[in-house]
Amino acid sequence: QVETKVDSVLGLMTLEEKVGQLVQYNGSWDLTGPASGMDNKQKEDNLKNGRVGAMLNVLSPEATAEAQRLVMENSRLKIPLMFGYDVIHGYKTIFPVPLAETASWDLEAMEKSARISAVEASAEGINWTFSPMIDISRDARWGRIMEGSGEDPYLTSKVAVAKVKGYQGDDLSGAQTIAATAKHFAGYGFGEAGRDYNTVHIGENELHNTILPPFKAAAEAGVATFMNSFNDIDGTPATGHKVLQRDVLKGDWNWDGFIVSDWGSIAEMIEHGFAEDKIHAAQIAMNAGSDMDMEGGAYEAGLVKLVGDGKVKEEFIDDAVRRILRVKFKLGLFEDPYRYSKPVTVDFDAHREVARDIARKSIVLLKNENNTLPLNKERKKIAVIGPLADDKDSPIGNWRAQGETNSAVSVLEGIRNAVGKNVEISYAKGADLGVGERNFLLPLEINKTDTSGFEKAISTAASADLVVMVLGEDAFQSGEGRSQVNIGLAGVQQELLEKIYEVNQNIVLVLINGRPLEISWASETIPAIVEAWQLGTESGNAIADVLFGKYNPSGKLPVSFPRAVGQEPLYYNQKNTGRPFSAEHVTYSAYTDERRDALYPFGFGLSYTSFEFGEIEISSEEMTANAPLEVKIKVKNTGDLKGSEIVQLYLRDMVASTTRPVKELKGFETIQLEVGEEKEVIFTITEKMLRFYNANRKWESEEGKFEIYIGPNSRDLKKAEFLFKK
Ligand code: IFM
Repeated sequence: QVETKVDSVLGLMTLEEKVGQLVQYNGSWDLTGPASGMDNKQKEDNLKNGRVGAMLNVLSPEATAEAQRLVMENSRLKIPLMFGYDVIHGYKTIFPVPLAETASWDLEAMEKSARISAVEASAEGINWTFSPMIDISRDARWGRIMEGSGEDPYLTSKVAVAKVKGYQGDDLSGAQTIAATAKHFAGYGFGEAGRDYNTVHIGENELHNTILPPFKAAAEAGVATFMNSFNDIDGTPATGHKVLQRDVLKGDWNWDGFIVSDWGSIAEMIEHGFAEDKIHAAQIAMNAGSDMDMEGGAYEAGLVKLVGDGKVKEEFIDDAVRRILRVKFKLGLFEDPYRYSKPVTVDFDAHREVARDIARKSIVLLKNENNTLPLNKERKKIAVIGPLADDKDSPIGNWRAQGETNSAVSVLEGIRNAVGKNVEISYAKGADLGVGERNFLLPLEINKTDTSGFEKAISTAASADLVVMVLGEDAFQSGEGRSQVNIGLAGVQQELLEKIYEVNQNIVLVLINGRPLEISWASETIPAIVEAWQLGTESGNAIADVLFGKYNPSGKLPVSFPRAVGQEPLYYNQKNTGRPFSAEHVTYSAYTDERRDALYPFGFGLSYTSFEFGEIEISSEEMTANAPLEVKIKVKNTGDLKGSEIVQLYLRDMVASTTRPVKELKGFETIQLEVGEEKEVIFTITEKMLRFYNANRKWESEEGKFEIYIGPNSRDLKKAEFLFKK
């Protein structure tokens, strides 16, 4: 029925009106990059003439209604606009940044935070979010690593589906749903040397086995839109990549949504040296299957002429328009163009509660020597120290939508809220992390010299029973355009930590950051380390819940933490190489000045209790496509508290037609165990799980020996093996 409606509208459209649907304008006039240079009056005229299909960054019911009215009251065909916005980890209520949230491995929770984001955003006129970002990233130097789900294709695929379900619900026309975007298609997380927008060198094997699976999962989950990417892949800019967009996504995967360019990425093909001018860029992008031009001005400048000159087929334009109209129909915009601009009451208090729950689930306990944690509320004197200890802004993270500046609960506030009057809390900032103005577009200047606050911090620490040190990153150290060559504790923080340690060794280090940090010294020296990421609005309360044992941490790293930045890119699912190890001499694949493994590996995270894993039991030593394998393992809570463990299943294909990773995550299950309780976790290994993009350029399984690993992280694993026969 939608298709009939789409065709009936398309049949009425002139070529100019069709091209208009492929144009997206920015509404807040120069927010995120070099814009088209058009003045507002001209934009307004184009809206009135039906030459615009969507806008971005128009916020509030009033503003969206006003823009919609320009179209509905003046254009010939009255095709409603879509309004897009980067609702990445919440709209007003801010949830943990996506990398952090993924550390919960809690798909239901992640779906819920997307649902709430949709409720809040849709109440403000937004009907389309540019989320989820599902770029696999293995490089902590990349600023946007905070915005994705880390290094693993399986986990990221699961998160992609949860997010799409959360934003879009079962049916896009349902109340308070918004269209989601799978971005950035593709390879954006693989920029050389972790530099944003940089060239990507990946071959077909890596592309299909590592980068594309989350996108395929999102497409299968019915994500309404895709966004392509700024980078080039092996010589072809993603925006002009026909194989990716037309052949794979729209062809092989048979996906029926539309692809929006990234901001100006069509015109950026000129800078790439791939297009001569905007007209040429429009030709390349449209022929490659890029449907909508975000604030680039290339399509409006070129497409009508290009069709006239026979350089772009009108059927490509029709296909793009059809895709856009389809989403607009599904969103219910033709029935009521003002659907998203009506006053709605939003229960922000209820949303905060959910935000606190997800925030504490996202916390990863990295170290806890001598049961330093949880803290005893009777401990008399706690010093809270560090540039981020009372920072109410950094936990909000980057890509914060309408999350207000300084609106997070700080760690200091959270601790004060948690303890009674008999605990004495003292506070010293110790040092500033950044200097001067901070905002979305400016580089952050780090304070590297001012240690004038050290003295007070040292004396505060010296007179306390325990120190909670809160260090890490400013919100604007990670995010778009925030790549770094140093990923240690920036500025004077390391020095401050060492000075405090000299006077009080009883330290709990709480890290607030958007990327893996290099923390080798702390890891060796400090008794307890809590990875608290950028947890959003309820940050401090969630952290206090964990510090004082109200919540037993269960988060697991979705990304490897390096021993040294020189190890990056670092990831667990690497290839074995022909020279994997040797204790004797240097001619193997390693470093001579540092170990090659992660400081904290993918999937790692401790609990206040301990778990013991039994041996793997398999239903048979042989498996066929028709007879899946049942794999069991017993897990026992051997500690003194009830807790949750995320049991992880990995597989290794020992010999194949292409080289295969040393292990790949293929399943996980979260179990809750009372003290002394034991549970059996059962995984079923099916033929589908053994498939990979192989030498035949197909997703196939191959016969042979496989190893199974199960454990609490990607390093500490029990092992079994089986033979797969077709
Ligand atoms: O959605 C973003 C994208 O991820 C980066 N460039 C700008 C877009 C719109 O704000």
